[in-house]
Parts: sequence; structure tokens; C-alpha cells
Amino acid sequence: MSFERDLLAGPAAAAPALTSAAASARGLPRLLRGLSFGIAGDLDGHLEAYGPLPAPRELGARTLIKLVEHSGLCGRGGAAFPTATKMRAVRAARGRPIVVANGCESEPISAKDALLLHELPHLVLDGATLAARAVGADELIIAFEESNSTARRSLEYALAQRRDPVRVELFVAGERFLSGQETALVSQINGGPPKPTFTPPRPTDRGVRRRPTLIHNVETLAHLALIARHGAEWFRALGTEAEPGSRLVTVAGAVGAPGVYEIECATSLRTLLGAAGGTTAELGGLLIGGYFGSWLPAGAIGALDLSRASLARHGAALGCGVLVALPASSCPVAETVRIAIYLATETAGQCGPCVHGTAAIARTLHGIAEGKAPRNAFADLRRWTAELPGRGACHHPSGLARFVSTALSTFAEQFDDHARHGPCRRCDGEPVLEFPASALALA
Ligand SMILES: Cc1cc2nc3c(=O)[nH]c(=O)nc-3n(C[C@H](O)[C@H](O)[C@H](O)COP(=O)(O)O)c2cc1C
Ligand code: SF4
Repeated sequence: MSFERDLLAGPAAAAPALTSAAASARGLPRLLRGLSFGIAGDLDGHLEAYGPLPAPRELGARTLIKLVEHSGLCGRGGAAFPTATKMRAVRAARGRPIVVANGCESEPISAKDALLLHELPHLVLDGATLAARAVGADELIIAFEESNSTARRSLEYALAQRRDPVRVELFVAGERFLSGQETALVSQINGGPPKPTFTPPRPTDRGVRRRPTLIHNVETLAHLALIARHGAEWFRALGTEAEPGSRLVTVAGAVGAPGVYEIECATSLRTLLGAAGGTTAELGGLLIGGYFGSWLPAGAIGALDLSRASLARHGAALGCGVLVALPASSCPVAETVRIAIYLATETAGQCGPCVHGTAAIARTLHGIAEGKAPRNAFADLRRWTAELPGRGACHHPSGLARFVSTALSTFAEQFDDHARHGPCRRCDGEPVLEFPASALALA
């Protein structure tokens, strides 16, 4: 989903979730509250919508980190790592710390970070300056993708109205699937290629300009901005003990109103689909967690809530918060093969198992889809997708392996049918899973 499409579909589509009585009775929206104020970068409107930030003397660094710890806030960039733990690590590291707000959003379907940067830049800036306060940093870098020119305009407009106690730099990252991975982002900011590096050292010890670096997704920072205002108990009033708060989710595919929604953590899948206008067609499957995520059968909808535990029982995770409802009229084999080829072309090309493994998986899947695969193709795919996870400097091979292995189990019949008879009549339909046009030449 492109940002332009999201501008049309996202905030407008999110409106039912924002205004439904059930949602507002639960205290939603929180992050997206400012959307209904129509403030788009205006500081007075932002303060009217969210209220002022507590000053440093009211909320010092140590209290702030304790507050974050009590709130249970975890990263919204994909890995759900506890935010306070990362802050403590940066604070304890040797050297002058620096903060990076990660707004790259390299997952092609996700639109939440672009929405925050464009519509609610002050919320992100509030959170980023608080993160700097927590770790004692006086420099802050806000990173976003090259194609997201609206983020730059919006941030520049917002920054011109603020007097922050930190130096703020905007950084334009590359337009690749790996650009937002934290060590790849550090490499780019340091003038290197958009490639992940082996850890240790972790960015928390040695990152940007060899300094301890706190990297957070922009949504994580936006939550921080509200936790500092309202406290840990307020944050915990939504969600569960294990997964408190709210989160942003991008819903795409066969739903009435695709777009970005703010949901209570661990809510049911039915609630989310209902907020997104309900399904508009019979579903063939669900993709949860984006292109590093898992395919599930459509029949899982009734039983599933979006908690880590419930998703883990199905071998899934919400990751950066992407849900795709695949209509039964689309070919799941064609969709899977296209994305597997895209992901294989997005390898950073520096770890042997990743380079060869992802290419072999994509090639073999393509052979199956064409009905031209050797007899042992499925056995090879099962072996490779089991061996690949963890075999590289980053999670790219693990992500692709999960995407493919869950497709093979969820759509076993359809894969088998393609292996025997070649392309089906749905193969040429309009693709549901999108990726950047710049990658089209490669895939
Ligand atoms: C291949 C790959 C791509 C990623 N892309 C992004 C991204 O675009 N934006 C983002 O915030 N995190 C991305 N991440 C996660 C980051 O590496 C990092 O965990 C995150 O920015 C930390 O922020 P958080 O603690 O607030 O979640 C990516 C991870 C991987 C493995
Ligand atoms: S695992 Fe793959 S994508 Fe990650 S750094 Fe190595 S080659 Fe690049």
C-alpha cells in the first residue's frame, strides 16, 4: 500500500474505529486522537489534542525510564523488545548517546509510520525528545525512506514551530526492504551501504558515529509521548497484563475500508476486521505480520485474538502490525511466489546461506507455480525453510522462511495442484500483495 493510497484510504478508513462507541468507551483512539483535530503538524492544535509534555524537572531521566518500564511498552518496529531495557543499555554504555527515530517502514504493506510522520509529527518529535532525555542524548536523527517526501515536509514544518533541547537531523534512508533494519540504518547514517552488520557490537553499545545509539520505531516513540503525559497506569488500562496499551495496525486486502487502525493490544481478530469495514469477499487466507509474517487459513478468524500467545499457537506474530485478508478469488500460490522472489532480490547479498538459500527457495517456488518443478521440490523447500532461520547477519532469511513455510502448509492443496497442472485461472488476477515499483525491475 503506497502512502498516497493510504492518504486516501487510511485516515478516512480509520474513522469508524475512531468514532465507534465501543472504541471510545475503551479510551480509543489514543495516538490517532489528533487526526480528528485536523492538526497536521500544527503545534497549537497538537497541544490542544494531547496536552503539554511534562518538563524535565517534573519528569527526570531515571523516573522516565521507570515509568516506561512500569508501562510495559515494547517496540512497535517488529521485534516487540522492551523499550525500557534498551534505554537502560544505552544509558549504561560508554560514550555520548544519540537517538534515532526509525520511520523507514520498509515493510511494503505497512502505512502506520508514514501516517504518524505526515499527520502527527509533533507526537513523534515529543517521543523522540523524551527518549533523548531518558538516555542523556543531545542529538536526535529522524530517518525515513527516500520516497516519503511528505514526511520531510511535515517534519520540517513541525520543527520550525518547536524549541527542542536537542539537535535534530533528518536522514533519508534507501528504499530497500532492509533499509529500516537497525544495523543497516546505522550503516547508512555512518555513510555506508544499506546492509545489516553482524552483532555484537549492538547499536546500543556502538552505533551512529561509534556512539551508544537508541533506535526506536516512530510508533514506539509516539506511545512514549503519551505515557509521559498520562502515566503507566493509564497506558495499562488498555490491553492485557502481558501486552498493555494500544497499537497501530495496517489492514489491507478484502476488507471494506483498508487503512491504518488503532486497536487495543491483544484484541480479537474479528474486532479488527469489523473496524476495517468487515470482509468484502470470501477469504482464501490471512497474512499476519507482513512479508516476514505467517499465512493462516481463513477459518482461523473465529478463534484468533491478536495477542502474542494466541498468535504463537498458530506459529504467527503481529510483527510491525500488518494484516492482509486474501480473497478466495486470488491465487495464494501466485501471491506467495511473487513476494518470495521480491524478498530474495532484497537480500543484502553478504551472507552465503541467505543469498543462495533465498534464491533457491524463490526459484523452486516459481517452478512449482509453473508446473515445472522436480519431484523433490517440496522436500527441498521443507528442508531449506527449516535450515535457513538464523543463518545470517539479520532476520531476513528467517522472515522469508516463515512466509514460505506457512504458505506451503496453509495452501498445501493449491501448491500441489500447481505442481501437477501448472498455473490456475486465478494466477493472472490483480495482485493483492504489493511491493515498491522500484523493485519491479528486479523481481
Ligand atoms: C529486515 C528488517 C527490516 C526492518 N525494517 C524496519 C523499519 O522499516 N522500521 C522500523 O522501525 N523497524 C524495522 N525493523 C526493526 C528494527 O531492526 C529495530 O528492531 C526497530 O527499529 C527498533 O525499534 P523498536 O524497539 O521501537 O521496535 C526491521 C527489521 C528487519 C529484520
Ligand atoms: S542475512 Fe541476508 S539480508 Fe541479512 S545481512 Fe546477511 S545477506 Fe543481507
